[in-house]
Amino acid sequence: MDIASRPSEPAENTQVADAAPPPAAPPVIRREDYLPPAWLVPEVALDFRLGLDATKVVAKLSVARNPAGSGASTLRLNGDQIAPLAVRVDGLDVNDWRLDGSDLLVELNGEAHAVEVETALNPAANSQLMGLYASNGMLCTQCEAEGFRRITFFPDRPDVLSTYTVRMSGEKAQFPILLANGNCTASGEGEDGTHWAEWHDPWPKPSYLFALVAGDLVANHAEFTTMGGRKVDLNIWVRPGDEDRTQHAMDSLVNSMKWDEEAFGREYDLDLFNIVAVSDFNMGAMENKGLNVFNTRYVLADPETATDGDYDAVEGVIGHEYFHNWSGNRVTCRDWFQLSLKEGFTVLRDQLFSADMGSEAVKRIEDVRVLRIAQFPEDSGPLAHPIRPDSFQEISNFYTATIYNKGAEVIRMMRTMAGLERFRQGTDLYFERHDGEAATCEDFVKAIEDGARLDLTQFRLWYSQAGTPQVAAEMAHNGTQTVLKLTQTVPATPGQPEKQAMPIPLRVALFDRDTGTHSGEQLIVLDKDSQTFTFDGFTQPPVLSINRGFSAPVAIEFERDSADLVFLAAHDDDPFARYEAMQGLVVQHLVAAVSGKLDDAARAEGRAAIGEAYGSVIADPALDDLMRGELMILPAETYLAEQLPVSDPGAIHAEREALKAWLGRELAAPLKALHDRAVAVAYSREAAARGARKIKTQALVLIACSDPAEGARRAFAQYQAADNMTDRQGALMVLASLDAPERETALADFHDRYEGNALVIDKWFSLQAGALNPKVLEHIAALAQHPDFTMTNPNRVRALYMAAAANPKAFHDASGEGYRMIGDLIRRLDPINAQTAARFVPSLGRWRRIEPVRAAMMRAELERIAALPELSRDVREQVSKSLG
Ligand code: PHE
Ligand code: ZN
Repeated sequence: MDIASRPSEPAENTQVADAAPPPAAPPVIRREDYLPPAWLVPEVALDFRLGLDATKVVAKLSVARNPAGSGASTLRLNGDQIAPLAVRVDGLDVNDWRLDGSDLLVELNGEAHAVEVETALNPAANSQLMGLYASNGMLCTQCEAEGFRRITFFPDRPDVLSTYTVRMSGEKAQFPILLANGNCTASGEGEDGTHWAEWHDPWPKPSYLFALVAGDLVANHAEFTTMGGRKVDLNIWVRPGDEDRTQHAMDSLVNSMKWDEEAFGREYDLDLFNIVAVSDFNMGAMENKGLNVFNTRYVLADPETATDGDYDAVEGVIGHEYFHNWSGNRVTCRDWFQLSLKEGFTVLRDQLFSADMGSEAVKRIEDVRVLRIAQFPEDSGPLAHPIRPDSFQEISNFYTATIYNKGAEVIRMMRTMAGLERFRQGTDLYFERHDGEAATCEDFVKAIEDGARLDLTQFRLWYSQAGTPQVAAEMAHNGTQTVLKLTQTVPATPGQPEKQAMPIPLRVALFDRDTGTHSGEQLIVLDKDSQTFTFDGFTQPPVLSINRGFSAPVAIEFERDSADLVFLAAHDDDPFARYEAMQGLVVQHLVAAVSGKLDDAARAEGRAAIGEAYGSVIADPALDDLMRGELMILPAETYLAEQLPVSDPGAIHAEREALKAWLGRELAAPLKALHDRAVAVAYSREAAARGARKIKTQALVLIACSDPAEGARRAFAQYQAADNMTDRQGALMVLASLDAPERETALADFHDRYEGNALVIDKWFSLQAGALNPKVLEHIAALAQHPDFTMTNPNRVRALYMAAAANPKAFHDASGEGYRMIGDLIRRLDPINAQTAARFVPSLGRWRRIEPVRAAMMRAELERIAALPELSRDVREQVSKSLG
């Protein structure tokens, strides 16, 4: 409780509280301070004696002075929450070591030594899920970014590459399966029911790629033969009982391995590839060399328990982690400021892979939607940072949409400018030049520059400047000439008040209004503050289609008639541009509506245009249903808020809901017909059937908005008839937002049916927390008390609270109760799992962009957190930046 809420407290107490020293700010790490390591560690031998609540680790490091280092005789070994039980140098116990904070410093005189350190760990007590921890009776590790130092003392930085040999022993009954990176070189039985295994990884790697897993696991096994003829054993390890849900992951793995050979010429380099699924995991998955560790949600899938979206996510993440074997492992990062070197590139690779496995157009639209919802707000808020940051306090806070998704967009622009063939020459050169190295973003750009023969001098600004560029377009027509004037501004971001113009590659096409065609797409590059581009051959003003395929991650500002947008929504031959025109139509209308700029006539006119475009999307026989479903998705509330300097979330929500209800009424007959048609399509994983499921729920949402009784009836019928999770979840989502008797019945049935299936119970929490139900805040409070809720499982915490934080109806409730709920969560979760707690801060950090009454309440929550004497570095950094 804070001081302000205890008015009866005597004033002296406030004085005492004020006198306490303010919590120390964590030190700032800067990119420009990079120094090569003084000592290298060519080889490591680790010996683990495993136990759930007591594990002993003996680490033998062969260390050698780095010729490129400072020459310092002190060896710095990072540690975190561990103590050295014994330190030996060249076989002798030494006293010549000391602790500097949590680091272990050892004085060494020679050029090379053997340093041995013993540590003891309690994995069962490790709720942070970094280092070695227990999950459902099994042991596993997570070392990226700085988790290895929670296992043993080590130069825990990505530019120290070592060859690892790992021996582990433990009770056979408890840990029948023993895994680490590389290949198993020996194994055997020990005394008292123990057994042991030895693993060797021939590829030198940084400590963040180390992994060990021990537990009762079963594998789905397959084989893959690489293009060079290497036979690779593939295993997906899960808890007994889950093996029937691993086939899609296995298919995705085989497809990934094949695709990387074809698309990037990258071949796998070990005889074994293991994936382990764990249910307690902070992130999606981890690319440890030869031993990927996955959150169960990106492995397990079958039609009964996983939606089509879940299937796509499994495929994408399996691909992502596999692709890291080259973009991340064979070529790793010099330091954590270079994180986007591996993450941006690997996200681009997984996006291209998923596009090739399914619909390129739909994948592009989905990727842009994620960018706009997750990255644009980051880029325009207090936590904005370039894709290659200049400083940080806690690296875990930098696994962001900017590093990942904007990072991918930046590399995609190089690909667009070079063309596919030359881009491939660039990536080939990158892998050839830097294989086995810890590289920088600059190394990547240089390799693309040389290999693809591009001049990227000015383009490098994309790596150093934060903020989403705004491109204003104006078009003038006279005679037969059309002049397009483009002006770019890159907004100021924290620490970067002034920006320079960046090269912005824009794919454009000009349409003739009468024929509905264009004479060819062009790539223009805007690389000055302002520039004009001239087009000939139009006798009347053409319709501009710009940033087609979303060729640059920018916001285009272009005032235009609804008629032009309706035209492009119906005629553009670039599917992304068609989607963009639909979005633009709705965005223009809703932004005007919430800004109070629409009188009744203008509102009616705007709605009519949207209704017309929507109606033709529903009716167009040339569209496949997956694409139709994409076109029917209205712009998200966060994206609408981005269009305004300061927004009222209540007004945005009300206007958007009103439009949905209007569309539901206006198009009642075609929507019902669409729903009926989709309901009649049988389940399969084919695109046509997936499309049918997508539009089925889209139609249902709009029907329920305009006619709740009819919506409830149809949703309940869809729920009861469902033979797959996509239909069942879609129906339950609609019911969860309604105040109908069917709601309780279906929710209770869902819980009964899937009791004990953690991933599906997560959905049960999410659907309720994300619902537009008037009582949603009460529901969330009750769910937090539900016996199935726990603060120690990140998936469960996210299921309830991420859904709540992303639900404007809950989070932005005018009472401020939503803010309080997230503030309380952060304070309670921080001591348990700081990384996960910190991920909830940005939602409150948006306060400057929200209307003043809510903004004050959001800020107050941040201050309440900041006032805590004990805060993790993770939360401290995010909160202080959000207040600063
Ligand atoms: N490197 C992982 C990925 O993107 C993400 C991750 C980071 C996982 C930190 C765990 C911890 O694939
Ligand atoms: Zn990654």
